[in-house]
Amino acid sequence: MLRAIYDWVDERLDITPIWRDVADHEVPEHVNPAHHFSAFIYCFGGLTFFVVVIQILSGMFLALYYVPDIVNAHPSVSYLQNELAMGAIVRGMHHWGASVAIVMLFLHTLRVFFTGSYKHPREFNWIVGMLIFLVMIGLGFTGYLLPWDNKAYFATKVGVEIAASVPFVGKYIATFLQGGDIVGAVTLERFFALHVFFLPALLFMLLAVHFILIRRQGISGPL
Ligand code: HEM
Repeated sequence: MLRAIYDWVDERLDITPIWRDVADHEVPEHVNPAHHFSAFIYCFGGLTFFVVVIQILSGMFLALYYVPDIVNAHPSVSYLQNELAMGAIVRGMHHWGASVAIVMLFLHTLRVFFTGSYKHPREFNWIVGMLIFLVMIGLGFTGYLLPWDNKAYFATKVGVEIAASVPFVGKYIATFLQGGDIVGAVTLERFFALHVFFLPALLFMLLAVHFILIRRQGISGPL
């Protein structure tokens, strides 16, 4: 039955070459832990992507209940956490996943650094990676405010103050982040929009470039 449906679609849209291209792609022996145990260090890019996918899926479900205004934000998170069926699990995945994503990202970056994979001809992908790093930090920073409790509020205040200490432009960055002179109602709306629309869109575009470049240039050679 499934086979018949697949064949029907394939005959019309020719989808087999699309997934074959991914499924048949071979990786070099020096990144395969079955051949060299130390090759496990090459897993972290893929693991980062895996956690990013978990963040997107769990975040989509949180967005069904989260309300981004200062009156309802905290009660909606509290409802998610304490009353909604499976809410604590989904929120827990997103909460802990955020930390795991940063740890995996860091290990991936260390792997790329210590295998010298940022060198010619992969300099451009290193720069794309640094942009991805900034976007991921931004996702963590903006997400942290959303529960709108004391921890969230004061962490954001400290973060904005750090940004404000940048010479010359700091004041403008702080005003831009806060959407005004204080961490308040506009800040919460702004961080929500950045967290669920702007930064994920940026992340998708950067990851697309990242993966296209990896495919075109291949994984870097053994040390
Ligand atoms: C969400 C974040 C990221 C994801 C999902 C990701 C994913 C990947 C994957 C799957 C690979 C293939 C090799 C491997 O798995 O190690 C790779 C390679 C690479 N990544 Fe990332 N990456 C991310 C962030 C970064 C960052 C922050 C940097 C550096 C600043 C970076 C630089 C590179 C470079 C230069 C390569 C090519 C390495 C080689 O050919 O050996 N990536 N990335």
